[in-house]
Amino acid sequence: MLDLSFDYESCVRASEKVAWAIDDVMPPGTRLDFTRPFLPRTLAGRDELAFLNGRERRVLNQINGNAYLNLFAFVEEYILAVMTQHAHAELFGDHDAIRALLRFADEEAKHQKLFYRYVDAFRRDAGYDTEVLEGASDVASVVMSKSPIAVMMVTLHLEIMTQAHYVECIRDDDTIDPFFSKLLRMHWLEESQHARIDALELDKLLRLASPAQIEEAFADYLDLVAAIDGLLRTQAEMDARVLSRATERTFAAPERDAIVDSQHAGYRRTFLTFGMTNPMFARHLETIWPAGAARVRGRAVELTS
Ligand SMILES: [Fe+2]
Ligand SMILES: [Fe+2]
Repeated sequence: MLDLSFDYESCVRASEKVAWAIDDVMPPGTRLDFTRPFLPRTLAGRDELAFLNGRERRVLNQINGNAYLNLFAFVEEYILAVMTQHAHAELFGDHDAIRALLRFADEEAKHQKLFYRYVDAFRRDAGYDTEVLEGASDVASVVMSKSPIAVMMVTLHLEIMTQAHYVECIRDDDTIDPFFSKLLRMHWLEESQHARIDALELDKLLRLASPAQIEEAFADYLDLVAAIDGLLRTQAEMDARVLSRATERTFAAPERDAIVDSQHAGYRRTFLTFGMTNPMFARHLETIWPAGAARVRGRAVELTS
C-alpha cells in the first residue's frame, strides 16, 4: 500500500555498519560544558523573552536541551515495547524482519540509556535542581492501548521528525555545544533505519486493515497528538520552575506565563507540527487516506496558531 524502496534486509545491513557503543559516545563521568547553548534556536522556545538577560536565556536553552533529550528517552519507552511486540508477531516468519525489529528495539534501549546518562550528568553538573518528565512506562501503556496502526503512525512521525531535526537544524549549527551536537549525530546515524522499519511495519498492518479501521487509526493518532501536547505543557511548566531556581529569580505571574507559553510553543513545533507537516510523513498519510491526511494538516494549523 505504501510506496517503499527498501526492505528489512537492507535496513539490517545499514544498521550493522553504523552501530556504536554508549561508552565511546559518552564515557561514564563525562562532564557537561555549560558555556554554550545546547539546542539550536529553531528547536528551542518560541520567544526571546525580553525580560531575561543573555545568561538567563542561555540557561533556559540548556534546560530546554536537557528536557529535549529526556523527551526522546521518554517516547523510546513505548517504541521499544512496540518493536518487541512486532518482533514477537514475526516469530517463525521472516527472519530479516525479526533481525531488523530486534536491532531496532536494542538500539532504542541503548539510546534511552545514553540520554538518561546525559540527564543524570546535567543534574549533577548544572548547579541547580532540574525537573523532567517521569513515568515513561505509564505513558507507554496508554499509547499501546490505541489502535496498532495509530501507534505505528505516531512512531513514524517521531522517527522521521528526529532525522529532520538533525539534518535541518543541528548538523550545520556551529553555535551550539559540540558534545550535544555529537550525541544527536550518533542518534541520527541509527535512527535513519528506524523510520524505514516503521514504514515497513505500517505497510504490513495497512494491508489487513478495513476502511473503518483506518478511520479509527487517524482518530487515535490525533488523540495521541493531544496527549503528547499535554505532556509538553507539563514539561514547559517544569522549565519555568527550573529557570526560577537556576537564576534565583521569582517571576511575576505574567512573566512566568510568558516562559511557559514560549516553551510550550517551542515543544509543540519541535515534537508535533515538525512531524505532522514533514513532507515525507504527509505523503505517507495521503497514500493511506487523503481525508485523514487533511484532518492531520488541519490539526497542525490549529496547533501553530
Ligand atoms: Fe532513538
Ligand atoms: Fe528510533
